[in-house]
Amino acid sequence: MPSDGGPEPVRYRRAVVADAPRLADIHIRTLLVTYRGIDPQEWLDSLRDQLREREERWRSRLTERTNEPVIVAVVEPAGIVGFAVGGPARKPSYDYDGELISLYLLPEHQRRGIGRELVRRLVGELVGAGFERVLVRVLTANPARRFYERLGAYPIGTTQVEVGGALLEESLYGWPQPREAFSG
Ligand SMILES: CC(C)(COP(=O)(O)OP(=O)(O)OC[C@H]1O[C@@H](n2cnc3c(N)ncnc32)[C@H](O)[C@@H]1OP(=O)(O)O)[C@@H](O)C(=O)NCCC(=O)NCCS
Repeated sequence: MPSDGGPEPVRYRRAVVADAPRLADIHIRTLLVTYRGIDPQEWLDSLRDQLREREERWRSRLTERTNEPVIVAVVEPAGIVGFAVGGPARKPSYDYDGELISLYLLPEHQRRGIGRELVRRLVGELVGAGFERVLVRVLTANPARRFYERLGAYPIGTTQVEVGGALLEESLYGWPQPREAFSG
């Protein structure tokens, strides 16, 4: 916290391979809090045992999938406190070619505008890479749906997704004109 008691400054940058352990840790910690009571508890309980495997997945994503930008938010002294991942839409999806694939912020750093800035920067990267329309998938039971609505995303449909053996409803939201949506 700065000496004047104001909010900590936040720095944003592209993730590098050396960030893999921290990204895996943040992802698991945030998943555990976000999906308690939504995803099957057995699946959530298994997450802590997946740390090493998820570190490896982050390493290979950052090494090999260079067309999928990862932006991190850094607050000192904590270091990375959240991340956003984007890339090509993962399934043919209502004419949307780009996707905000993943967005996670440690609970103690939520509701300070960091999520909005991560999305703004990530969408900027996707637009710069030539994607024309960007969608995001969010479990319908996740209150983060309201966050996407605040960021001007339109509801475009629902679908079913399998998580830990359970079929859950997910909602799709989209920015059909992402450049305009984040130009303000
Ligand atoms: C969703 C998430 C990324 C939002 O980031 P954040 O930094 O907390 O959100 P911001 O402070 O940038 O909020 C931007 C706006 O959305 C609103 N908002 C944020 N979360 C909200 C929620 N859960 N319900 C309603 N409104 C919400 C804020 O009030 C703010 O509104 P404003 O325009 O009036 O200022 C963050 O809460 C998070 O990581 N959640 C857990 C993981 C998760 O669910 N990720 C999404 C998976 S698809």
